[in-house]
Amino acid sequence: MTDKCHMCLLGLILLCSLLTGTIGGPLDTHEFCSSGGSVRLPYNNALSDCTSTTWTYSRHLKSVELITLGKKEKDTERLSLDSDCSLNITKVTKEDYGSYTCLRYVNGQGTDARVYLHFLHVSPSSTQIRSGSSVTLSCQLYYDQVYCDTLVRAEGVQLIWVNQAGEDLQTDSRYQISPPGHCDSTLTTTLLDEDNNTEWRCLLTQRNEAKTSAAYIVRYSGKTQNFFNRYWKIIR
Ligand SMILES: *[C@@H]1O[C@H](CO)[C@@H](O)[C@H](O)[C@H]1NC(C)=O
Ligand SMILES: *[C@@H]1O[C@H](CO)[C@@H](O)[C@H](O)[C@H]1NC(C)=O
Repeated sequence: MTDKCHMCLLGLILLCSLLTGTIGGPLDTHEFCSSGGSVRLPYNNALSDCTSTTWTYSRHLKSVELITLGKKEKDTERLSLDSDCSLNITKVTKEDYGSYTCLRYVNGQGTDARVYLHFLHVSPSSTQIRSGSSVTLSCQLYYDQVYCDTLVRAEGVQLIWVNQAGEDLQTDSRYQISPPGHCDSTLTTTLLDEDNNTEWRCLLTQRNEAKTSAAYIVRYSGKTQNFFNRYWKIIR
């Protein structure tokens, strides 16, 4: 009877650890990146070398080995192992978001650590970028195998729109900004003549500390607009 109970309990514990393993356990780490940047996926290795370290990348339930026993699977310059077996990725693209698992074998025993890499991107909703038109910028965090709710509530992730000077635009009446607490955020404004080359930045903070950002720079094409503006002033 007691044996059965023990088996039961053991089963439950196993199930729990399996479940927490797939939906994000407390020891998992989260890293954030944006286009073109570089990122270091930490792995605290107490060993002197990385020859027993394997890094696996997974997204949408598909996995590939990036580093097998300390050796790169593909000859890509974007990946490198740090001396403590952390994985460095340079020239980050959207394709890099997902989860990275580091597996280490010591005396036949495997231990793993998981790092979730999330990608931040800003894009305009319309292609009509000219003075007088309304534009909506969408800031989106791409993530996999975690819930947005976990990121916002447990990890303290926030998206904030700032101008070039780093000032929060939330209270500026010129902008309509979607309510906080989500893994995407929109900024809507009507473009002014003087907005050419203006930068609006979506800043990602984790527990009030800046982690990464993505920006959009307004570019009015050519001189046509200036020409019409001047022409308009003359005939007025
Ligand atoms: C990995 O990234 C860290 C931090 O960006 C840097 O200090 C280190 O030199 C990089 N290592 C390699 C092997 O590129
Ligand atoms: C906007 O700025 C760019 C780059 O400085 C410039 O080439 C372009 O003519 C400007 N457009 C207008 C409408 O002022």
